[in-house]
Amino acid sequence: MNLYQKHILPKLLNFTMQRSEMEKHRPDIVGQASGVVLEVGFGSGLNLPYYKNVSKLYALDPSRELYDIAKDRVEKALFTTEHLEASAENIPLASGTIDCVVSTWSLCSIPNPEIALGEIFRVLKSGGRFMFIEHGKSPIIFVGKIQKLFTPISKCVAGGCHMDRDIEKMIKNAGFEIQKLEKFQQKFKPLAFMYKGVAAVKK
Ligand SMILES: C[S@@+](CC[C@H](N)C(=O)[O-])C[C@H]1O[C@@H](n2cnc3c(N)ncnc32)[C@H](O)[C@@H]1O
Repeated sequence: MNLYQKHILPKLLNFTMQRSEMEKHRPDIVGQASGVVLEVGFGSGLNLPYYKNVSKLYALDPSRELYDIAKDRVEKALFTTEHLEASAENIPLASGTIDCVVSTWSLCSIPNPEIALGEIFRVLKSGGRFMFIEHGKSPIIFVGKIQKLFTPISKCVAGGCHMDRDIEKMIKNAGFEIQKLEKFQQKFKPLAFMYKGVAAVKK
């Protein structure tokens, strides 16, 4: 980890992820989670104020620096939060023990999202749900090509962020049944194509 990744990137992510065009989607996604919840790519804890019916939250993120920023938000929460300093590709939880998994703009940064989605599927109970909002590949071929071109840059400056992942395909390939899915272009940001929805585990 270099100095930028250790000292600047966590503060930058905490700041940029609070933009109103992102913040406005958090209540919809996070408010649907209940019971024992795992959040993958917990970051600086920006989803915490929107959890309503959570008995315990596992906050998984390999970044200790981001979790340090989250600590004030964690202290204010009315439920217990346990930090799992780990990668989504190797979730340190037993199979079939989690009611809901939440991911907000994390699948873009996880180095191997297919393995991570397999792990999310594994830890969820039968009937468990995965709530997500992610950005990824645009259905417009020309835009998709630009996203591919810019991904090496966004990987460098934005913590491994890929712009061109086909989120819907990856979630389906992991074995989930998609229950709800909205796909839309973020206003004035042609490269930011959003996938927002809920997927269920039918084991
Ligand atoms: C763009 S940030 C989003 C943070 C947060 N979900 C939010 O909505 O503000 C991407 C997050 O993915 C995390 N991340 C990167 N690699 C990961 C991995 N292998 N497993 C889990 N999380 C990872 C980063 O540390 C970061 O917190």
